[in-house]
Amino acid sequence: MSEITIRVAVAADIPALHSLIESAYRGEASRTGWTTEADLLGGQRTDPDDLADILANPEQAMLTAWRDESLIGCVLIADRGGGTGYFGMLSVSPTLQGGGLGRRLVDAAHAALAERFGARRVRISVFPQRGSLIAWYERLGYRKTGETLPFDYGNPRLGLPLRDDLHFVVMEHALA
Ligand SMILES: CC(C)(COP(=O)(O)OP(=O)(O)OC[C@H]1O[C@@H](n2cnc3c(N)ncnc32)[C@H](O)[C@@H]1OP(=O)(O)O)[C@@H](O)C(=O)NCCC(=O)NCCS
Repeated sequence: MSEITIRVAVAADIPALHSLIESAYRGEASRTGWTTEADLLGGQRTDPDDLADILANPEQAMLTAWRDESLIGCVLIADRGGGTGYFGMLSVSPTLQGGGLGRRLVDAAHAALAERFGARRVRISVFPQRGSLIAWYERLGYRKTGETLPFDYGNPRLGLPLRDDLHFVVMEHALA
């Protein structure tokens, strides 16, 4: 693989970001990767307006990974206050997964959360049905906190649920 660069997204990246995130999370294209939400949700994961709101919010940012001018990965970072950071929308092009980019983006998210927001811990939310993804986060040092969060069934911009028991488990990782 040629060199990968990671930088903060700008508005001009939104179309490429939208395609990447949808391809990683939803539909048949996402099944090329090793983990996907396609069995849990149809519809969209995000949309260009949502991404524009993220980029305009000083408490959030999107890190993007590029190879040969192609967008191949991204991760949303956010300040939750009180020394807690969050990441989400972690996406790697389905055909490039398993090569270490996801881990590299998590490392980049940790560094950026500490530097930008003074985060001392990171919290993420994961569907409990995604056992292999939870196992990966545990190998990265995340632990379940025991808390759960509801899934917003009233917001089709988050996707169209394929089952009626969706919720999230919260996982946490301390930053050095
Ligand atoms: C989650 C995601 C970002 C990981 O990206 P990636 O580039 O594959 O990550 P890496 O290559 O760094 O690590 C892949 C890990 O999965 C493991 N893996 C690979 N294939 C696997 C499989 N079929 N089943 C289970 N684990 C597998 C690898 O062994 C590796 O684990 P290790 O780092 O402990 O060795 C990527 O799969 C993705 O975009 N998924 C769709 C979107 C998503 O679900 N995001 C997270 C939502 S919270």
